[in-house]
Amino acid sequence: MLLAESINYAAKILRAGELVAFPTETVYGLGADASQPEALKKIFIAKQRPMDHPLIVHISTVLQLSIWAREIPPLAFQLAEAFWPGPLTLILKKSLAVSDLITGHQDTIGLRIPAHPVALALLKNFGGGIAAPSANRFGRISPTSAEAVREELGEAVDLILEGGDCEVGLESTILDLSNDVPVILRPGMITAQQIAAVIKIPVLLAQKNAPRVSGSLESHYAPQTKMILMEREELISYVEKINFPVAVLVRKPLSTKNKSVQVILMPEDAKNYAHDLYRILRELDHRSFNELLVERVPLTSDWIAITDRLKRANFKVP
Ligand code: TXA
Ligand code: MG
Repeated sequence: MLLAESINYAAKILRAGELVAFPTETVYGLGADASQPEALKKIFIAKQRPMDHPLIVHISTVLQLSIWAREIPPLAFQLAEAFWPGPLTLILKKSLAVSDLITGHQDTIGLRIPAHPVALALLKNFGGGIAAPSANRFGRISPTSAEAVREELGEAVDLILEGGDCEVGLESTILDLSNDVPVILRPGMITAQQIAAVIKIPVLLAQKNAPRVSGSLESHYAPQTKMILMEREELISYVEKINFPVAVLVRKPLSTKNKSVQVILMPEDAKNYAHDLYRILRELDHRSFNELLVERVPLTSDWIAITDRLKRANFKVP
C-alpha cells in the first residue's frame, strides 16, 4: 500500500473504533479515537494496563489544545512554539467533556504534537485527537520499530503503520503545567534546562513522582532478562569471575578473555545512546543471557532520561 492509502485506511479504522499502532519520533504508540470510550477501553485490554493510568492525547495543531484543555497558561503556548511537533507532553487542566478513561479520573490531561511524519499525516487525516500509550504490554520496554510492536501486541492491534526506527528512542518528557510551578513528571530528551531557557522560570524535577504516571512505577520499562547497573570498575572485576552467559553494555571498549561475556559497545553520547537503548535491550532479551550488565552513565543533564529508564529496568532484589 502507498503511504497515503495506508494513512486513509488507518484513519478509517480509528473512526470505526478500532486500534492502530503508529510510529512517533519517541516510540511507537497504540492509538484509539480519543472521543470514543469503547475504543479507549480496547487500549487497556490490549496492553493489559490498569484502567486508572491516564493516556496522552496526540493532536496535530495547537488550535486543538482548547478542545481538550481549559485554563491553558501562556507558558503552554510558548513551549508548544518552541518544542512542537516534538517529544514533549504537557499536562494541563482537562476540558469538562474529556473521558475519565483518558484522565484516569484526574482533573488533568496530557497532550502532545508528535514529530514523526507518519503520525502527523495520520492525525491530520483523522482530524481528531488520538489517545496513545506506548505500544507495549504494560511494564515492558517501549517499542521503537514496527517489528517490536508486532512482538509486543501481535493480534491485539488491528493495524500497525510502518515508520522505521524511532529517531529519539525514549518516551517524551512529561511536564506538568497544571499547578503554579512547572514540574517534570517523566524526564525525556528535552531537558529541564531547555524548558527553563524558553519559559524563563525554574522547572522542578518530581522527586517521588505522581503515582499515576505509570512510567514512574519503580519497576517499569524492564527487559525480561535480569538487568544490573554497575560502575565500570565493579563491572570489570565482576565479569572476570563469571561462568554463565552475560552481555555487558559499556560506553568505552572493554576487553576480557572470559568467553561467557559478550561486550556490546554503546554510543558515547546521550542522543545516540537513547536512540539505541530499547532496541538493543530488546535484541539482547531474545538471546539466552543470564544477566545484562549495564555500565552506569554520566550524571549530566543530557543523560537524566537515560538514567531514569535504566534505574527502572534495573533488577531489584525481591
Ligand atoms: O513519547 C511518548 O510519550 C509516547 C508516544 C506514543 O507519544 N507515549 C507514552 O505513553 O509514553 P505512555 O502511556 O506509555 O506513558 C505516558 C505516561 C504514563 O505514565 C501516564 O501515566 C502519564 O504519561 N500521564 C498521562 N496523562 C497524565 C496526566 N493527566 N497526569 C499525569 N500523568 C499522565
Ligand atoms: Mg508506556
